[in-house]
Amino acid sequence: MMQAEIGIIGGSGLYRMEALQDVEEVQVNTPFGFPSDALILGTLSGAKVAFLARHGRYHHFLPSELPFRANIYAMKKLGVKYIISASAVGSLQEEVKPLDLVVPDQFIDRTRNRISTFFGEGIVAHIGFGNPVCSQLATVLGDAIASLDLPDVTLHRNGTYLCMEGPAFSTKAESEVYRSWGATVIGMTNLPEAKLAKEAEIAYATLALATDYDCWHPEHASVTVEMVIDNLHKNAVHAQQAIQETVRRVHENPFVSKSHSALKNAILTPLDRVPP
Ligand code: ADE
Repeated sequence: MMQAEIGIIGGSGLYRMEALQDVEEVQVNTPFGFPSDALILGTLSGAKVAFLARHGRYHHFLPSELPFRANIYAMKKLGVKYIISASAVGSLQEEVKPLDLVVPDQFIDRTRNRISTFFGEGIVAHIGFGNPVCSQLATVLGDAIASLDLPDVTLHRNGTYLCMEGPAFSTKAESEVYRSWGATVIGMTNLPEAKLAKEAEIAYATLALATDYDCWHPEHASVTVEMVIDNLHKNAVHAQQAIQETVRRVHENPFVSKSHSALKNAILTPLDRVPP
C-alpha cells in the first residue's frame, strides 16, 4: 500500500487539489467500510499527500451520513501523521465576514447522530479533548495563510467552531444561543473528524472558510446553499494556496505533536484482559 505523510480533507466546494502531481487513486477498505470516496494520492510541494473529498466528489453524502471512521482509519492506514481539513462555515460574529478564513482552536458539539469514537466493543478509552486541534499545525496553517497576503480576506487565528447535526440550517433562536455561547463559526462536519483524528493520534487542524452570516444577521439574507457554494468557489483558490503552502511548511519542518501520543494514559481497559 502506498504511503502518505499529510492528509487533506476537502469540504463543500473543494473536491480536488489542482496542484497535485503523480496522481493515483486508491480505494482503501477499512473495518468501518469504505471512505467517502477513493483517496487521491500524489505529491504536493514535495510531500506525499492523500486527498479525500469529504462528501464524495459528487457531493452525495449528508453530514450525518459521512463515514467519518472509515475516512480517518483510511488516512491512518496510509501512514498519515497530519490532517489539514477545509470546510465551509457560517459566521456567528460580525467581525468574521463571508470569505474570511478562520483557524478554529475550540469546538462545541451539537451533533446528535454520529459515532465519534473508534472505541467500545470491549475497549474503553477516554482521550483528552481539552485542546481538540493540534496547536502547532494550526500555527503553521495560520502562518501559511498570512504569508499569502490575500487581498480583502481577514485571517482569524482562533475561534470556536460549533458543529451542528444538520442537514437543515439553524433556526434564528439557535443561532442566537450559539452566539451567546461565544461560538465564532458554525458547520456540520469537523467535530467528529477532530475527535477521531485525536484517537488515531493524527495531528489535526481546520481551515474554516466563512461563506455566510448564518441567519442571525439583521442586514444579511439568511444562509442558502447557493450562497455557500458561490462564496466557496470565490475562495477555493485561496483554500488551495493556503493548503499547498501549509503542506510545504510541514514537509520541510515536520514536528512531533501532542496528538501523536494522545492514547498515552487514555486507555482504561487492561489490554491483556480484553474479552475474547
Ligand atoms: N456551512 C456553511 N454555512 C453554514 C451555516 N450557516 N450553518 C451550518 N453549516 C454551514
